[in-house]
Amino acid sequence: MKRVAVLASGFGSNLEAILEAQSRAEIQGKVVLVISDRRDAKALERAEKRGIKNLFIDPRNYDDRENYDLALAEILKSEEVDLVVLAGFMRLLTPYFIKSFPLKIINIHPSLLPSFPGTDGIEQAYAHGVKVSGCTVHFVDEGLDSGPIILQESVPLIQEESIETLKQRIQALEHRLYPIAIDLFCREKLQVNGRRCYIVE
Ligand code: GAR
Repeated sequence: MKRVAVLASGFGSNLEAILEAQSRAEIQGKVVLVISDRRDAKALERAEKRGIKNLFIDPRNYDDRENYDLALAEILKSEEVDLVVLAGFMRLLTPYFIKSFPLKIINIHPSLLPSFPGTDGIEQAYAHGVKVSGCTVHFVDEGLDSGPIILQESVPLIQEESIETLKQRIQALEHRLYPIAIDLFCREKLQVNGRRCYIVE
């Protein structure tokens, strides 16, 4: 069984969806650790409620991003984590950290990458007036939301809908897609060749 760590800065609805899927045995992996860079992250509470080890690692205790990431990497290695899942983790990871876990870090982003990377993906797409948006699960490389795409699904925008309903629809999609991607990883069904991620039998 693969050992999974989830890094989350905020509300943790994706974490919740992952834990729900795990409890329904839809993920052949186990979330063993949740880490946040914010003390008040609801994600930590959600982990605590389910008896999952959870840590607040305070960025203010470290001189710079490198040292923060060094500490993160040490914890993840000591927990023998096989997969690092970013679920609304709002810090840019350093190249050192990414190199420490090659093709073992995945992220979910609320747009159809490579469109609208970075923060506020939903807002950016909405402001641009797109007709279709969606979400993307991808491996993390050293660029901004630029690694090989694992799964991606679209939602058409409804004319004159508010950004709130669009957010709800994209997040519902995220909650369905992320557990599927994590399960594929845990069952070793993902093979990456260059930019392309294949799902193998
Ligand atoms: C999610 O919508 C995720 O796609 C986004 O943060 C939200 C976290 O929600 N991530 C990014 O924008 C990363 N660039 P959650 O805390 O409820 O899971």
